[in-house]
Amino acid sequence: MRGAVLFIAFSALASLVASAPATMCATRQYLDPTTNTCKACPASMTACSSATVAITCQRGRYITPAKQCVSPTACPPNTFPDASTKSCKKCYAANAATCMDGGTASATSCLSGSCLSGGRCVYIARMGSYQYCSNGLVTSCGTGVLKCDSSGVTITCKLGYNLASGAKTCIKCPSSQIWNAQTEECDERCTLVATVKTDSSGAFESVKQRAQRFDASLNLCVDCDDPFAESCSSGGETESCISPFENRDGLCVAPCKGDETWNASSWQCELVCSDGHYETDPVDGSTYIVRARWPNYATSTCEYCWDLGAVTCENEPDSHMSINCIEDYFLSNDGQCLTW
Ligand SMILES: *[C@@H]1O[C@H](CO)[C@@H](O)[C@H](O)[C@H]1NC(C)=O
Repeated sequence: MRGAVLFIAFSALASLVASAPATMCATRQYLDPTTNTCKACPASMTACSSATVAITCQRGRYITPAKQCVSPTACPPNTFPDASTKSCKKCYAANAATCMDGGTASATSCLSGSCLSGGRCVYIARMGSYQYCSNGLVTSCGTGVLKCDSSGVTITCKLGYNLASGAKTCIKCPSSQIWNAQTEECDERCTLVATVKTDSSGAFESVKQRAQRFDASLNLCVDCDDPFAESCSSGGETESCISPFENRDGLCVAPCKGDETWNASSWQCELVCSDGHYETDPVDGSTYIVRARWPNYATSTCEYCWDLGAVTCENEPDSHMSINCIEDYFLSNDGQCLTW
């Protein structure tokens, strides 16, 4: 049993000796296994295990993780030249293309698919929507931008910002201005609806702030044409009037008082009172008198004349004097309409 083990051990040693080189290779040489001869290492290597795998490098050359001897400026991607070990060492981040040293934030450029930010390589897929990769650097899309595409073109804006589609920028209007979606510019914020001062009962007293319109050519807020307009068109024409003013064909006029009526040809309220006259009832054919009234301009009301038979009477509150009388009445010397 012991003899058998010894024999196996001896045979193994014998076969090993048979394939071993006849001599050790000299320095700067390696054993070529195909020819079983010693061959010179490449000039960049001081020791090597094959024609392409270095063990140590020539002075001035750094060994790479792949056992190559390169000039320190030619360290491969994801490595940096480490002077103390004369080697190209791996960067801290696996996605760094170049780095200054092995520090966590020492990347100086990143591999494809990643972007540099503060010495770190950020995966582009994980960047914020408000960022994009510009020349390998994480770059902000711009002020007010919520989202931009991979080339930095604005897609959407943050709340409070407005997208200028032409310039692809996000604009925030100052508080005195308002965004105009049509022109994509900030316009002056106009008082589009007039504000008024009212008394304790809520009735109109005065105009606090006249209604305005925006004049696009002047880029200014301009008062509406009518001082009592509640709002007006872009051309200044009245659209509505402040209550109680009434919109009469674009003019805001005070409402007629008392018995006044609007005269569309003279453009004003008029107190027109009917003269006394007979009228016939259309149903039973009976005739009755419609009493004369006179215009009391002080109260804007039509007041009845004293006499039933008057056509017109004196425009005086306490006067009982008729001026002329309806048919079947005659005017007395003291101004009364009397019947026979
Ligand atoms: C309205 O005003 C016009 C012009 O002043 C006048 O001629 C007309 O008589 C007035 N109409 C009435 C109903 O009072």
